[in-house]
Amino acid sequence: MDNIHNSDYSIQTVDLTRKFGNITAVNRLNLTIKKGELFSLLGHNGAGKTTTIKMLCCLLKPTSGTAIILGHDIKKEADSVKRIINVSPQETAIANHLTSYENLQLIARLYGLSKADTRSRTDELIELMGLKERAADRVEKLSGGMKRRLSIAMALISDPQVLFLDEPTLGLDPQARRNLWEQIEKLKGNKTIILTTHYMEEADALSDRIAIIKSGCIKAIGTPKELKAELSGLQTMIVRGCNLTDEIINNIKMKYRDVKSLDNGIEIRGEKLVFDEIVDSLRSDGVKIEWLTMKEASLDDVFLSINEEV
Ligand SMILES: Nc1ncnc2c1ncn2[C@@H]1O[C@H](COP(=O)(O)OP(=O)(O)O)[C@@H](O)[C@H]1O
Ligand SMILES: [Mg+2]
Repeated sequence: MDNIHNSDYSIQTVDLTRKFGNITAVNRLNLTIKKGELFSLLGHNGAGKTTTIKMLCCLLKPTSGTAIILGHDIKKEADSVKRIINVSPQETAIANHLTSYENLQLIARLYGLSKADTRSRTDELIELMGLKERAADRVEKLSGGMKRRLSIAMALISDPQVLFLDEPTLGLDPQARRNLWEQIEKLKGNKTIILTTHYMEEADALSDRIAIIKSGCIKAIGTPKELKAELSGLQTMIVRGCNLTDEIINNIKMKYRDVKSLDNGIEIRGEKLVFDEIVDSLRSDGVKIEWLTMKEASLDDVFLSINEEV
């Protein structure tokens, strides 16, 4: 393994592994993440996302392997690593009886900022994360989305070069999620951001690159465009109409690899489907087509096809 530190990289993992008893939560992970990149770890519950983040944040020791963050080894130089990174964890550690201002001030003082710096930094982050209107209210009165934004603001107090966001939008309603995406967009480019999510749409919207992980292993890696291009031949056609008998559906199943029956319709997935061929064949079988649509592969399809593999 090429272990030489490359200064374009922010993070380089080298066979990073973590076991819990018989379970291998993270299995020989080899990743390189560039400076300023927004990199997403995408995977189902239990895929190994949080365990990876915890090791990179020096909160959990690897069983074997290691990672280098901006030149510092997470195993040998945990103190140096902790100075340049920060994390907004899956379970946020916010003091509910304090206001957003007070939570931020508390963290700022813990980091040893002067009174003047504490004030300016707190004001700046309240503004940046869109928390100004409710900043003087106790946190317990805030919505889930606002608490998440506060948790990210708290992680930004130390001005980390690498920021970890572990499932930042988990449990938020669609509007709060989109709002949080906008705040995360604002941070892009200045810092290296590692985000975990199990929402494909989110990874697609925000990431420079994505790694899809399953059982602690990388199953696919690339830009959202590259991942979708891997399935570029895959299309889905949905046809709804009358007289779609079982016999006709069975005929179609013999021709195409993936056919599903719908209510008054069928869904056909396959490589380079020929529109006219399908329509002509259905019409000649006496099907009256009422509605049809055809779509290219989305990141959802990429994720599904990877997770369907045994
Ligand atoms: N402290 C722990 N003790 C035992 N098993 C754990 C522990 N933390 C995580 N695991 C297991 O490791 C696997 C990966 O978990 P995790 O990293 O939390 O996944 P994700 O964040 O992708 O949902 C799961 O099978 C989980 O049950
Ligand atoms: Mg997790």
